[in-house]
Amino acid sequence: MEISSCLQGGYHKPLSRQWHFRNGGKSLDKSMFMYPIFITDDADASDEISSLPNQRRWGVNRLQEFIGPLIRKGLRSVILFGVPFKMNKDYRGSPADDIQTPVIQAIQKLKSLFPELYIACDVCLCEYTDHGHCGLLRDDGSLYSHESAQRVGDVALAYAKAGADCVAPSDMMDGRIAQIKRRLIDNGYGNRVMLMAYSAKFSTSLYGPFREAAGSAPSFGDRKCYQLPPHARGLARRAVQRDLNEGADCVMVKPSLPYLDVISDTATLAADYPVACYVVSGEFAMMHAGAKAGIYDLKAIAFETHESFLRAGANIFLTYFTPEFLDWL
Ligand code: PBG
Ligand code: ZN
Repeated sequence: MEISSCLQGGYHKPLSRQWHFRNGGKSLDKSMFMYPIFITDDADASDEISSLPNQRRWGVNRLQEFIGPLIRKGLRSVILFGVPFKMNKDYRGSPADDIQTPVIQAIQKLKSLFPELYIACDVCLCEYTDHGHCGLLRDDGSLYSHESAQRVGDVALAYAKAGADCVAPSDMMDGRIAQIKRRLIDNGYGNRVMLMAYSAKFSTSLYGPFREAAGSAPSFGDRKCYQLPPHARGLARRAVQRDLNEGADCVMVKPSLPYLDVISDTATLAADYPVACYVVSGEFAMMHAGAKAGIYDLKAIAFETHESFLRAGANIFLTYFTPEFLDWL
């Protein structure tokens, strides 16, 4: 099948069908919130993350007590991040698609506990490579572009096979959306698994708390050769258009607050698609710190900012505020 013929993966489940309502002045509702959660390879873990208020790294044995109460409050979807401490990281990020990897274990556990929960998986190598970069590297530190996209394709397929409803590559390698879509179609997952592209992902100072939480900081250098320069509105538009052409079912902007213009551009370019934005760790920590300093009320700033993302044109929010919004809405 041609990539451009494959639409069904983008509306396979009740929740992904709902995402095809575009916002037209609607207000926030629970179906728009996707909760990022960290899964580690100690099955009994429930570790506080000092950089991220109220967030923890969880082991698979603790997912019932963690997620059960949130589902009762109306949680519809999660996105999983793996945080391996015991597994052996290497140049190609082998633990990413090992059958024992926390993300694969967690997909299976969550599907058996909560069959209605929509499960997305972040797809990247940086949590699993010994060098902490998101792709495969040459000796001089530059990226093997094609090989990286293929490797990311392997990982995405492994998560689809384990039962993920959505795969969301955050690596920013050129060509990875086409690689992943091709793998999904050729293996019979094209009509069942949504491909959510982190399309306009910027190289920002706002990922710090996440990298501490996930142990994914690069061991040398930075990510400026693959994540977008913050001033580059045109590159963001091109990346969104490129990913749509390569078969993305949904496109994302990340971070959110300093990039409302990019969300708006994306909503125009991808007018016929769901548009997601990621309210990243540094934005979450910043809003908490501001509230703690008495600058504003936490609930008020959370509503104001998430309503601004909706206004700009996003209708899916990946946000650590999800549990709070389940109480507030
Ligand atoms: C890894 C990844 C990152 C985030 C999501 N996936 C960090 C990075 O690119 O360094 C950031 C999420 C956050 O800050 O909350 N590719
Ligand atoms: Zn990465």
